[in-house]
Amino acid sequence: MISQEDNERLTQVKAGTPVGDLLRRYWYPIAAVSELARHPTKYVKILGEELVLFKDPQGRLGLIDAYCGHRRANLVYGMPEDAGLRCPYHGWMFDRAGQCVEQPFEETLNKCFKDKIKLTSYLAEELGGLIFAYLGPRPAPLVPRWDLLVDNDYWREIGYTMTACNWLQTVENIMDPVHVEWLHGVFRNYAAERSGHDEFKRRRVNHQRIGFDIAEYGIIKRRILAGETEESDDWKHGHWLVFPTTQKGPDMLRFRVPVDETHTAQWYYSAHPFNEGEYQSEEQMPLYHMPSPELDKHGQPQFQFLNNDVDPQDNAIFISQGAIYDRTKEQLGESDPGVVLYRHLLDIQIKLIQAGKDPLNTFRDPAKNIRIDLATEAREKFLTGRGESPLGMRRRYAPRFKPLD
Ligand code: FES
Ligand SMILES: [Fe+2]
Repeated sequence: MISQEDNERLTQVKAGTPVGDLLRRYWYPIAAVSELARHPTKYVKILGEELVLFKDPQGRLGLIDAYCGHRRANLVYGMPEDAGLRCPYHGWMFDRAGQCVEQPFEETLNKCFKDKIKLTSYLAEELGGLIFAYLGPRPAPLVPRWDLLVDNDYWREIGYTMTACNWLQTVENIMDPVHVEWLHGVFRNYAAERSGHDEFKRRRVNHQRIGFDIAEYGIIKRRILAGETEESDDWKHGHWLVFPTTQKGPDMLRFRVPVDETHTAQWYYSAHPFNEGEYQSEEQMPLYHMPSPELDKHGQPQFQFLNNDVDPQDNAIFISQGAIYDRTKEQLGESDPGVVLYRHLLDIQIKLIQAGKDPLNTFRDPAKNIRIDLATEAREKFLTGRGESPLGMRRRYAPRFKPLD
């Protein structure tokens, strides 16, 4: 358990707060390339800030304040032009740095007024079919080129959900190996039974030992299951919490993106073997909606979402802990050293940035950012399509979920 003061400190995301400033040192996905191909503007909320992302006719990205500097029209209605984004209300134009560069009616009387109008602007870059944003101080570090994002010899798909809870509880889950045995095992089987889908049941895995190491890209989480030894993949490789908020599984990057104190966007980026003769451009990557199940209108669990896939199970539990879970009432045990280590790592990184240094896992040398290999357990099995995990994670998620509207 921690104090109320510490709980507030660790969960804040706004600029000027210790954790908010640390989180701003990293790039986060905010859109799929295919979304802007469909429509060239998107309203985005991230780290407590309301922004609009746009692509101009030359394909350049802009990320500026969502509200016009004149009378605050939402610029998601904006019209992209070569010079920037034009407000629909009275035609003011903002360039990609947020500077007002045209004011149609005002200019007849005062040509200099526009020079005083500048909106907040941030950086946005495309990589691997996603668009990433950076809200921190300049010069910005490089967008990390994680293996799955740059390995274009796989069929890739992108899932998205908005989860009604603070970012920290979604990340502490990555540091909690034992929940896999219960939430994704015993409870999953219970949900399968309740919903009449016995075919979704899986055998239970038993944890014998867990371990955590701080390493180059964050924390490696390890486990030994019953019948396994230190030679098993799960122990030797484990998998990454890619600091500060991403999980790397064998076939998936789960990006957890702080939206505000009580909402977290999640992007599920997975790679799978191509079928014979298949080809996929970035704009063709399927975009699907991953459920974040809340209790139904009677206050009952929605078992139909909880009986087969690990992510809806995780999301339901994140929401069930409360918008910002009350860590003054938690009782951490032997299964929780990863949670404690993560909170400690946050404090170490906050001190680093306060001392004017780069925090863990930021990249500035292009030679070290060509392709960053995040080794994980069972990777071969997943990426060659030769097997399933005991929990029944399946190849290709998009066909089983609704497309994102
Ligand atoms: S509100 Fe945008 S130009 Fe008037
Ligand atoms: Fe989980």
